Amino acid sequence: MFVGYLPNSQMVFTAHKKLSLFLDDIRYTHNSIGFVPTMGALHDGHLALMSKALDENDFLVISIFVNPTQFNNKADLEKYPRLLEQDHKKILAHISKDQFVLYAPAVEDVYGKNATSNKYDFGSLENVMEGAQRPGHFDGVGTILEFLFKVVKPDRAYFGEKDFQQLQIIKELVKILGLDLEIVGCPIHREKSGLAMSSRNGRLSPESFEKAAHIYRTLSESKAYFQDHDIKETIDFVEQKINAIAEFELEYFTIAEEQTLLPASNKEANKKYRAFIVVHLQDVRLIDNIPLY
Ligand code: PAJ
Repeated sequence: MFVGYLPNSQMVFTAHKKLSLFLDDIRYTHNSIGFVPTMGALHDGHLALMSKALDENDFLVISIFVNPTQFNNKADLEKYPRLLEQDHKKILAHISKDQFVLYAPAVEDVYGKNATSNKYDFGSLENVMEGAQRPGHFDGVGTILEFLFKVVKPDRAYFGEKDFQQLQIIKELVKILGLDLEIVGCPIHREKSGLAMSSRNGRLSPESFEKAAHIYRTLSESKAYFQDHDIKETIDFVEQKINAIAEFELEYFTIAEEQTLLPASNKEANKKYRAFIVVHLQDVRLIDNIPLY
């Protein structure tokens, strides 16, 4: 992938064994380590996770790794932006260099010669929405995070609510592995238009970028609509709005109970619901969600 393009690359690790040794020393002089795993092509949403991690910990580890085992679509893996040098500069503009290290390995450092996934039992969480649409995806996410958590041994790790199902899966992973690690969920960072920030947004033309704002607008309207309509009516309302835009292809719109993520068909008192959406626009898969309470 890349080797030492930077003169001050002492804070960029490509070998997990060296990172592990370095962090053993850091633990002597720092009370806590925060961790932000990413796949790069960093935007303000990622940087917000890093700021929060540094507010709550003395030292920060960031990883940038496009994890092959979580892509069920080869074209998506190939098209995924790889902008390591630019990413590193963005981090340096945001965080002082003695507060963090970056781990940016090649596939071999993580997987050896064979990039395959472990199998996990995430229960009902893995069979709906992203789990149903992207077979094997969450096993891939679990595999890379198990590896990273065991190398970094952070006190807290930070994840965005933009990937709300992933966040719930990761909390379950930590339970399954019995790790002493706090998983911290962070709010969705949005463009001025309301569009959820995403590394994939860079592939949208300026016109599509503007159109994509309808996704969050519709989610916000659905929240208001949901207050005095039932689940089926709210789903019909959103489907109509999204399908009215010719360039949009709706993959799913689901209203699920927030804890179990099981799709709901009837509102029950004392339960919290959240709406989840995936829309394809110009070959880009856009994901978003909103609490309905
Ligand atoms: P990636 O898509 O790079 O996202 C890294 C982290 O940033 C995730 O926790 C994601 O939820 C969060 N994030 C992305 N966009 C956000 C936004 N607009 N607002 C707030 N947080 C946002 O998610 C992954 O990478 C991978 O699956 C990973 C966890 C690194 C495992 O490979």
